[in-house]
Amino acid sequence: KRKEQKMTNLVLFGPPGAGKGTQADILKEKYNLVHISTGDIFRYNIKNQTELGISAKSFIDKGQLVPDEVTINMLNAEVEKNEGCNGFIFDGFPRTEAQAEALQVYLNSKSTEVHAMIALEVDDEILVQRLLERGKTSGRVDDADEAVIRNRIKVYYAETAILKNFYKKQDKFYGVDGVGTIQEITDRLSAVIDELMEK
Ligand code: AP5
Repeated sequence: KRKEQKMTNLVLFGPPGAGKGTQADILKEKYNLVHISTGDIFRYNIKNQTELGISAKSFIDKGQLVPDEVTINMLNAEVEKNEGCNGFIFDGFPRTEAQAEALQVYLNSKSTEVHAMIALEVDDEILVQRLLERGKTSGRVDDADEAVIRNRIKVYYAETAILKNFYKKQDKFYGVDGVGTIQEITDRLSAVIDELMEK
């Protein structure tokens, strides 16, 4: 069945600081996929003071989720822009059940689907340390303050982590240890993706 599908669409999942962006940057080159980071798109729009950026900023600064409607419309537009590509790595999306359902409906309308959710597993204290470290140089407002970092992690457990079940039910969930060198983690993720692509 898999051979008939032209695209490979992956959800790279995990809490803030798990390494989604770092790994997606490597994997997009390796597998020739389009990397869509909703966080990066929001930050770009905030920097350029677009309407979207203005409406998202207050949520992001506090470590809260941007409302689903705004996020889903933005995501769909981004997928649309890349029509004809080999597939997507979704990084930071979906984050709620409504987003996961919307993504499913949208990809189905394009005769494709999410083929796997791959979750990077990292302990909370390591996440906090990584983000505090990055906050020193990144200029990311949501990394600057430990309370905001901890709120992002809290929001992840309260609203986002449940999505593992959404993909487990579809037999599409893969958990990967997210602690180690960047290369080690790329190798672990690649093992999952290679197996998927062979199917
Ligand atoms: P987003 O940009 O998605 O941020 P996040 O999920 O908090 O993720 P991060 O970018 O912080 O972490 P990451 O897992 O990508 O790790 P990274 O590779 O950078 O979202 C930001 C905000 O936007 C949200 O809070 C929300 O407000 C809003 N938003 C975004 N999407 C949304 C959605 N769908 N719905 C609603 N709102 C949304 O690595 C982290 C650090 O660790 C880096 O410094 C890196 O160098 C380092 N590192 C990476 N790997 C390793 C390693 N193996 N060992 C040591 N250090 C490592």
